[in-house]
Amino acid sequence: MSHRILIEPQRVDAPLTSSATFLVLTINDGDEATSMVKSTLASVADLTKNVAIRDSSASFAVTAGIGSRVWDRITDVPRPVELRPFKELKGAKHLAVSTPGDLLFHIRSERRDLNFEFERQLMDALGESVTLIDETVGFRYFDVRDLLGFVDGTANPVGPAVDDSVFIAEEDTEAAGGSYVVVQKYVHDMKTWKSMSTEQQESIIGRTKLENVELDDAPEGKQQSHKSLATIEDDDGNEFGILRDNMPFGSPGSKEFGTYFIGYSRRLWVIEKMLERMYVGNPPGLHDRILDYSTPLTGTTFFVPSATMLASLE
Ligand code: HEM
Repeated sequence: MSHRILIEPQRVDAPLTSSATFLVLTINDGDEATSMVKSTLASVADLTKNVAIRDSSASFAVTAGIGSRVWDRITDVPRPVELRPFKELKGAKHLAVSTPGDLLFHIRSERRDLNFEFERQLMDALGESVTLIDETVGFRYFDVRDLLGFVDGTANPVGPAVDDSVFIAEEDTEAAGGSYVVVQKYVHDMKTWKSMSTEQQESIIGRTKLENVELDDAPEGKQQSHKSLATIEDDDGNEFGILRDNMPFGSPGSKEFGTYFIGYSRRLWVIEKMLERMYVGNPPGLHDRILDYSTPLTGTTFFVPSATMLASLE
């Protein structure tokens, strides 16, 4: 007789929403902090229920990620095969910084108040065990546009392709049902971006602005668009997708205009390869021109364990 262990993933594949909070924390020293964090992580599903029930139409979902530095402190489970810190990446012109972060909470729904309430209950539960590194509140901007004015998220996998690009399976059984996630908080130089023609902007992104139609790839050896540099294929032409849930954030009053990049993947190397092609360029020297108008303030990698594993942490 065969028996199957059911592994339930976290809601990594939750739909795009109109509001999201990205919370990055470090864990303070000491055993007390460790046990508080473990018990809070184990209760994320219950905390989620507390809030989700209050408006079932709001698509409330949370994913929690754990950073490389604290993996062995927080869990007894072997390290996911690819889990490592975000590596600083230096191109000829642009730098992808690596910044601290032991825990990531990606909180999303159609309602800012639900996200706020969850974060409040979460921070109550974590008490003095953590230090805030970054808290960014993102909003949906028109028809899923980023603040550069382009529709963002189009090429995301859909249907069965989602599981295949996002969830670890037989290649790392201890980590099955989990995903890697990379975040980078970008701010844009809107003045310079806006000084360009729509055609120039479109060739940087690789899609038309109004209608969101894909442009052809540039010939090999020439300057590639963001879309082309972020497309990863193996020698047989198989494409490795990732799931992005980028959100605009900012404050016109303080002239802050940003994109919070978040990418989930079954394979961390795929996101690392995208970053290398963007920052170093392909061929090297021809970096992603989006970076001439966008500066990353953070860069951090986490592992999002399955919900089953998260619940077992206590
Ligand atoms: C595509 C914006 C950073 C990975 C796109 C598209 C836009 C966009 C407008 C085209 C529409 C779409 O398919 O979503 C941005 C902005 C960024 C940013 C504003 C930050 C300033 C990144 C980073 C990565 C990334 C850091 C990966 C490490 C991708 C991928 C695609 C894409 C995989 C789809 C490529 C394809 O067509 O297959 N991005 N992006 N993006 N971006 Fe970004």
